[in-house]
Amino acid sequence: MTMILSMRNVTAGYDGSDVLKSLDLDVEEGSITCIVGPNGAGKSTVLKVISGLLRARRGELRYRDRPMTGLNPRRALALGIVQVPQNHSLFPAMTVRENVRLGAFTVSDPAIVDARMREVEAMFPIVRERASERAGNLSGGQQRLVEFARCLMLDPELILLDEPSMGLDPRTLKSVFETVARMHEGGRTILLVEQNVRAGLGIATHGIVLESGRVRLEGSHDEVLGNPQIGRLYLGTTVSEA
Ligand SMILES: Nc1ncnc2c1ncn2[C@@H]1O[C@H](COP(=O)(O)OP(=O)(O)OP(=O)(O)O)[C@@H](O)[C@H]1O
Ligand SMILES: [Mg+2]
Repeated sequence: MTMILSMRNVTAGYDGSDVLKSLDLDVEEGSITCIVGPNGAGKSTVLKVISGLLRARRGELRYRDRPMTGLNPRRALALGIVQVPQNHSLFPAMTVRENVRLGAFTVSDPAIVDARMREVEAMFPIVRERASERAGNLSGGQQRLVEFARCLMLDPELILLDEPSMGLDPRTLKSVFETVARMHEGGRTILLVEQNVRAGLGIATHGIVLESGRVRLEGSHDEVLGNPQIGRLYLGTTVSEA
């Protein structure tokens, strides 16, 4: 069991207050790890610390068993960590193709960018079909797929997804989650935050329950879904009862 990412004793927050409190968290290489928990628990904050958007006040982060010191967004990208944020993040007035190409902004070799563009178009037909349309004209679910396509332009090792199901109808949600599974089949590790606990833990190999900035419970897909407390708190019933 190899960890791609470990957080030890991490404290982080905003202004005067700590949101993450001596947090220990592990992400196994090749996993889909899903973080669930109430609003304000610090789920997005965990992702921001990993992607370098927010600096930890105390504690240690290790990536592939090396310390991640002086972390910032550019360094995280260079390590192969990309984040798809919670809120819509495409440039609405730019075309779909322009948005996707922007994902490769740190890649200097145009031949690599072209090759990745072709791979991404093969995986996401919408990138080719709606290439010249303004991204702002797409539906919420379609924009999600374009955001995924954009993040793959860096050929990431670890993908951070913050609430990919937000605002999607059940059918679109299903197709977005199938795409998450396909990105995972491509050999990438995925750390996912989800309010839709059933859908999120449903595709995950590992689950983490975060409450008030601390890990309340973690384990394999079956352990977390089968936990009676989790069933009561988040699912209304356990999976074994369902
Ligand atoms: N930029 C910020 N400045 C100040 N406080 C913030 C900022 N971002 C988040 N917080 C606070 O930190 C706490 C944790 O926020 P966070 O966004 O990590 O929660 P979350 O678990 O992702 O919640 P949600 O499910 O609502 O997305 C909240 O109390 C929030 O108000
Ligand atoms: Mg959040």
